[in-house]
Amino acid sequence: MSVLTNDLTSEQVVNQDNDVIVDLEQIRYDVEKYPFISWVQKKIADRGFKSDDLTKLHETIPYTEISALTKWMISETGQKDWRQIAHSFTHDILEPLFDGEIAVQRFMNIRILLPQRQEMIINFHTGLWYGHGMGTGTCWVPLTPVFDTNSMQVIDREESVKLVKQAYDEAWRQDKMQDVFFKASRPVVAEPGEAVLFNQEIIHGNVPNKTGQTRVSIDFRLLVKGGKIRRKLVGGYFDLLDKEIRKGAQA
Ligand SMILES: [Fe+2]
Repeated sequence: MSVLTNDLTSEQVVNQDNDVIVDLEQIRYDVEKYPFISWVQKKIADRGFKSDDLTKLHETIPYTEISALTKWMISETGQKDWRQIAHSFTHDILEPLFDGEIAVQRFMNIRILLPQRQEMIINFHTGLWYGHGMGTGTCWVPLTPVFDTNSMQVIDREESVKLVKQAYDEAWRQDKMQDVFFKASRPVVAEPGEAVLFNQEIIHGNVPNKTGQTRVSIDFRLLVKGGKIRRKLVGGYFDLLDKEIRKGAQA
């Protein structure tokens, strides 16, 4: 972790078979140039909620509104202003790391994890379990400081692969799996302006947020050109980067 963008080589990110192998590498980007945070703040403000401090959303948005608000913002990631930010970010920051063209998820996930809401947690899982192929990776971008229980809990790649194999071989029940994975995991620690890349073998999940701070994050999958995708198709789940962004960047 804590690897700067320029410290990461493409051999650490993708292999010769176009499989994504990146193991929870942390990269940095300019929050002014790629203003994911102010986009989210503005969307929430448009809905009438105070959003200048995203870590305090549990104080400014009623719990019953969170789900609808999140769904609406996710649908808004199909709009041009979001694509401008996300596709430029992908083009400028991610493609050099992958050393090639990548497609991205058409609608990106925006998640709001409030403190003390047990029902908001996502069990530990891997991308492979959800039908994502090895030619795809995940980019997780926290928009608030993440630490301790408000963060995504992760297990490094080698240990993830080992534990998943053990779980299959020994036919672990769901509760045993969750318990073992939880004990083996650690939180991602990051500030706004950092993003985490990981492949589909990495075990990750949430735990109840006891930090007293709301976590807001975005995440999206990306697909390496020529990479294995399994059930998700280009032009449906995945989308090519907007042409103007490639052209603009080249001009
Ligand atoms: Fe996931």
